[in-house]
Amino acid sequence: MNKIGVLTSGGDAPGMNAAVMAVARSAAMYGMPLVGIKRGYNGLLRKSTSVYDDLEEMRLDTVLDIADRPGTYLRTARCMEFMDPAWREVAANTLRAMDIDGLVVIGGDGSFHGAEYLCKLGIPCIGIPGTIDNDLPYTEMTLGYDTAVNVCVNAVRAIRATSRSHDRPHVVEVMGRHCGDIALTTAVSTGSEIVLLPEVEWSVEDVAARLNRQIAKGNTRATIVVAEGCWESMEPFDMYTFLNSHGKKCYEGEPISAERFASIMKRMCGMVEVRHTVVGYTQRGEIPTAKDSAFAFEAGHLAVRLLHDGISNQVIGIKNGKVFYTSIDTALQAKREFRRDLYDLVNNM
Ligand code: F6P
Repeated sequence: MNKIGVLTSGGDAPGMNAAVMAVARSAAMYGMPLVGIKRGYNGLLRKSTSVYDDLEEMRLDTVLDIADRPGTYLRTARCMEFMDPAWREVAANTLRAMDIDGLVVIGGDGSFHGAEYLCKLGIPCIGIPGTIDNDLPYTEMTLGYDTAVNVCVNAVRAIRATSRSHDRPHVVEVMGRHCGDIALTTAVSTGSEIVLLPEVEWSVEDVAARLNRQIAKGNTRATIVVAEGCWESMEPFDMYTFLNSHGKKCYEGEPISAERFASIMKRMCGMVEVRHTVVGYTQRGEIPTAKDSAFAFEAGHLAVRLLHDGISNQVIGIKNGKVFYTSIDTALQAKREFRRDLYDLVNNM
């Protein structure tokens, strides 16, 4: 193997730059030139007017500079064209034309599917799990997850301080798409009283009853941590009728949100106020924690070593606290073990 490529794909995750740095260091060690591919798989589709928009020869001094920066220097994107076999051929041909003999893909499950397709077209690929969501069950941790959780924990701690000062409950929404891991770990780490996740069905009335119990016990600053995907596991509730009959304007068909939910809790619990905060994209744009950076460092090196040794079609993860690799297929088929025990611990009050 001579020249290799690296790309970041899907939502950016803290630690992606650190992983690219490790890939570059390892490639330099083996004497392999490294090409950075811009905006995920899009950089392989030859749609740009200038090749420099799509590809960049990666210099070691550049990547050493970016290692601990948030975001991704290579840019990232989701690439819908990759669903189409014809575009995948274009991508494989671009790699061949550039004499790129192997590819490191840093991204989530969609990105791994893309890597698997390229492997089938004869392009050796290795995946590094880069997503804040922690929604890849084959690994104990994805790159960026620890940083995202730390952002949320800091946010909830600050919110609990002001909530206590004002004697008012607070709804805090965190990311995670269809996975509740960020929310659950945040709730556990902050002693939050209620957590709502996409994995467990819940009802508005039950949450209000639990919040009321907290308030009756004198805990007027209870925190409800909600995963952004928790609305999909909510039992049907007529928000439109409820809010309008309680003096809050709401239009028919409007989706529930953290803000609406806080309004409902305020009215169901007779509080003067229930505030809400959406932590949002600050979860993605933070400097990676030491844990994420260390994982990125090891994973980047291992990815290049595997390609160098002629091993392909694998993804890297963490098992029993140690970095390991497994086939993309096995990784994508792994079943998630949901921590129901932790969920119950948070919600048992
Ligand atoms: O997958 C990472 C993630 O941040 C999810 O938690 C979130 O649902 C999604 O990306 C947001 O994506 P976008 O950047 O397209 O708004």
